[in-house]
Amino acid sequence: MRNLLILLLLCVAVCSAYPLDRAARDKEDSMELVQQYLENFYNLAKDTKQFVRRKDSSPVVKKIQEMQKFLGLEVTGKLDSDTLEVIHKPRCGIPDVGSFSTFPGMPKWRKTHLTYRIVNYTKDLPRDAVDSAIEKALMVWEEVTPLTFSRIYEGEADIMIIFAVREHGDFLPFDGPGKVLAHAYPPGSGFYGDAHFDDDEQWTKDTSGINLFLVAAHELGHSLGLQHSTNREALMYPVYDPLTDLARFRLSQDDINGIQFLYGSPPVPPDDPAVPTESVPPEPGTPAACDPALSFDAISTLRGEILLFKGRHFWRKSFRTFEPEFHLISSFWPSLPSGIDAAYEVTSKDTVFIFKGNQFWAIRGNEIQAGYPRGIHTLGLPSTVRKIDAAFSDKEKKKTYFFVKDKYWRFDEKRQSMEPGFPKKIVEDFPGVEPEVDAVFEVFGFYYFFNGSSQFEFDPNAKKVTHVLKSNSWLNC
Ligand SMILES: *[C@@H]1O[C@H](CO)[C@@H](O)[C@H](O)[C@H]1NC(C)=O
Ligand SMILES: *[C@@H]1O[C@H](CO)[C@@H](O)[C@H](O)[C@H]1NC(C)=O
Ligand SMILES: [Zn+2]
Repeated sequence: MRNLLILLLLCVAVCSAYPLDRAARDKEDSMELVQQYLENFYNLAKDTKQFVRRKDSSPVVKKIQEMQKFLGLEVTGKLDSDTLEVIHKPRCGIPDVGSFSTFPGMPKWRKTHLTYRIVNYTKDLPRDAVDSAIEKALMVWEEVTPLTFSRIYEGEADIMIIFAVREHGDFLPFDGPGKVLAHAYPPGSGFYGDAHFDDDEQWTKDTSGINLFLVAAHELGHSLGLQHSTNREALMYPVYDPLTDLARFRLSQDDINGIQFLYGSPPVPPDDPAVPTESVPPEPGTPAACDPALSFDAISTLRGEILLFKGRHFWRKSFRTFEPEFHLISSFWPSLPSGIDAAYEVTSKDTVFIFKGNQFWAIRGNEIQAGYPRGIHTLGLPSTVRKIDAAFSDKEKKKTYFFVKDKYWRFDEKRQSMEPGFPKKIVEDFPGVEPEVDAVFEVFGFYYFFNGSSQFEFDPNAKKVTHVLKSNSWLNC
C-alpha cells in the first residue's frame, strides 16, 4: 500500500510536469485505479514492476480476466467500459479472492447464540436509525438459520460494530468518501467477527446516500462466515447496488444456500400446533390454503385487508378481490421473523404490531418503525409472560386484548397503559371460545377467535359465539 501511494504521488508529479492530453490522462487514471483495485481485491502482488503500464502485462491481464469472471462481466481481459463502470462503483472492502487464504478451513461460529455491540455511531443518522438498521440486518440472517443475536452495551461482543475513518486500528485503513464502504472479519475471537463502517460515507436510511441496512446485512454476512458471491442477485455480491428497491429486499437463494451450508435451517418452532408433517404439501414449509387442518400463527387487519400469518408466509385477503394473495413475510418486511405469535392493527395509528417471543415490532405499510423491536414487558405485561398467543385491538372502544394461555390482559390505547384488574380468564368474558387462542382479529364488529383448524365468531354485544367455522374460511375454502 505504501509503495503504491508513493508511486501514485510520483505519478502525479510526473504527470503534471509533462501534461498529457486529456484522453491519455483519463486512461492513465483508469490504469491506476485498476491496478489498485486488483491489488486490493484480487490479490495482485504489490510489486512496482508489475505496474499496469509495463510492456509485459500478462499477469495483469490474467487478473483483469479473473475479476471480470468474478463480477459477472464479459471476460475480455481489457478495460472495457462495463469493467470501468463496475470498478468505479462503491463496494465492500473485503477482497474477492485470496483474502481468507490465511484462514484455513471454513470459519464459522461454533455456537448459535451470538452477541453484538454497537461500539460507536456515525453522525449521519440518529442513533435509533443505526440501531434498527443493524437489527434488521441481523434479522435477515436470523430468519434463515438457527442463529440468534442479542445486543450488549459493554464488554467484548462476538460482533463489535464501529464507524471509523481512515486508519482505525486494523491493517485495512478506510479510503475516504466512495469506493470502499465497509469491511468485516470472518468468525473467530478478538477482532474476528467485527464489522467496520467507513464514516466518510454518507450513511442514510433510504438510498439517497449509502444505505446502512444493505451494507450492514452484507458485512454481517462476512461476520457469519460468508465470502463474496459471484451471483449478481446475491447480497454477498461485492459491489454496492444503489438501485435496490428496499421494500423488495430479500436474500437470494445463493445467500440462503451459503449460510445454510454453514449453519443449517431455522429450527421448527417446538410449540407450533401446526399441521402434522404428513399433511404438509409437497413443497416443504409451504402451507396449503385449503388444507382442512390448517391453523394460523397470527391474524391482523391491515388497511382494510386481512393478513393471515403461517410460518414464513402470509395470506393477504382483500375484500375487493376474490382470491387471497400468498407471500413470504420477508418479501414485505425483510427484518420480521417468521413463525410470529400475534399481530394486531391500531387503525388510528395506521400501525400493525407484530409479536414474537418477548419482542414486538411496529409496521406501517411496508416500513418497520424505528426503535423496534421492543420488549413486550414495556406494554405492562408481567415478566412471567414469555410470549403472547394472540392479540387484537377493538377500533371502537380503543382497547387492545392480549391472550396468554387461558388468560387475557387489556390495554387502554388512549392512556397507553395496561388496565387494572387483569389478567382475567378467557372463559369468563368470552364464553364458548376455546380457552387457548392461536390467533384473533376483529372485523365488522365481530371478534374471530382461532383454535387449531376451528374458528369462533364472537358477538361482543350479545357476549356469545354466533358461528363456528373452519379456520381457513377466509381463504375461500
Ligand atoms: C469508533 O471506535 C473505533 C475503535 O475504537 C475508533 O477507531 C473510531 O475512531 C471510533 N469512531 C467514532 C466515530 O468515534
Ligand atoms: C382447540 O385446540 C386444542 C389444542 O390444540 C384442541 O385440543 C381442541 O380440540 C381444539 N378445540 C376445537 C373446538 O377445535
Ligand atoms: Zn463484502
